[in-house]
Amino acid sequence: MSVAPLQALSVDELRRRSSTKWRRYPDDVLPLFVAETDYPLAPAITARLTEAVGLGDTGYTPPDPGIRDAFAQFALRRFGWEVDPARVRSTCDVMMGVVEILRVVTNPGDRVIVTPPVYPPFYDCVREVGAEPETVPLVDTGDAWELDLLGIEAALAGGARAVLLCNPHNPTGTAHARESLAALADLAAGFGAAVISDEIHAPLVQPGASFTPFLAASETAAKVGFAVTSASKAFNLAGLKCAVMVTAGDETAKIVADMPDEVEWRTGLFGALAGVAALSPESDAYLDSLLAALDENRRLLADLLAEHLPAARYRIPDAGYLAWVDLTDLGWGDNPAVKILREAKVALHFGPYFGAEGAGHVRINFACAPEVLREAITRIGALAAS
Ligand SMILES: Cc1ncc(COP(=O)(O)O)c(C=O)c1O
Repeated sequence: MSVAPLQALSVDELRRRSSTKWRRYPDDVLPLFVAETDYPLAPAITARLTEAVGLGDTGYTPPDPGIRDAFAQFALRRFGWEVDPARVRSTCDVMMGVVEILRVVTNPGDRVIVTPPVYPPFYDCVREVGAEPETVPLVDTGDAWELDLLGIEAALAGGARAVLLCNPHNPTGTAHARESLAALADLAAGFGAAVISDEIHAPLVQPGASFTPFLAASETAAKVGFAVTSASKAFNLAGLKCAVMVTAGDETAKIVADMPDEVEWRTGLFGALAGVAALSPESDAYLDSLLAALDENRRLLADLLAEHLPAARYRIPDAGYLAWVDLTDLGWGDNPAVKILREAKVALHFGPYFGAEGAGHVRINFACAPEVLREAITRIGALAAS
């Protein structure tokens, strides 16, 4: 049975929001940059937060706000992944979880492998702990992006201490294959390195694609890996601050358990309440209709680009609502989003922020109404034609 796609709010309603997406640029700019969605909240989240607001329930987050069990049950239901709730610990957001793990598994001056083009804060959070990012770009096989396992092996052999993985990958939307993840785990184990897997986009893997949680890729992956994730991308909860760190091995679990309590105290209470509501079975229908809307939009984007910007190169992502588009052939320079913002009044994410491989690229957030996507690509197309 096909699921009805979720309807986005109107741009007039969205402009009343106070988040970055709607406040960063003036009203004549269509914002398709930062990873927020234009959809209404899942009803279970609205109900839970409304109840909390009514009660003035705005104090500190309790030690176990329910997010451990909610995540474990979600992982089993949606990914077939068995998670021990005792090995789930919360913190305020995914990048903070990554930083806290890096702080333990690396020493200042160590190198940490990142796989560009990749979510720009990855570079900063590695530097935040005094380590240095070592880039091993994804390989473009011609019809997909893959981890460069030989490159990663060479970097580990050269002394890199950890791999910061993005699965599914931002900005390409790639859900990495189980075999690649298992091979990565073997490499990491062989060199005594850790793998930190940012899985924030996992709830958004499309039904036709398959997502392997890193910790479930193999027994070795379970030992060397840390997963950090959140309901915040799928359910648009980024401002509420709740993420989880998940482990499956005794040593990795001890590393997370030994973190100062302050790491967990930073979890936002509204983030935890909303996260529990998001991950509960009650919100599955919402997630399915969101996926249906995103499925339509990822295909609509292909059609719109073919019609208005035939020189653009785009590969439909497996997951998420971010499209990585190569505009090199338009001749708009290394950072085409600058010209697009200035002249077409459409805000896209700047390709070069994702690493040197992002030259000539833009990242488009298509978690919006189809007519907004159509308007944005039509405006950019008019610029190309002028
Ligand atoms: C891969 C990835 N990790 C982390 C984040 C940010 O998560 P948080 O706000 O929980 O730190 C994003 C946001 O878009 C992301 O795409």
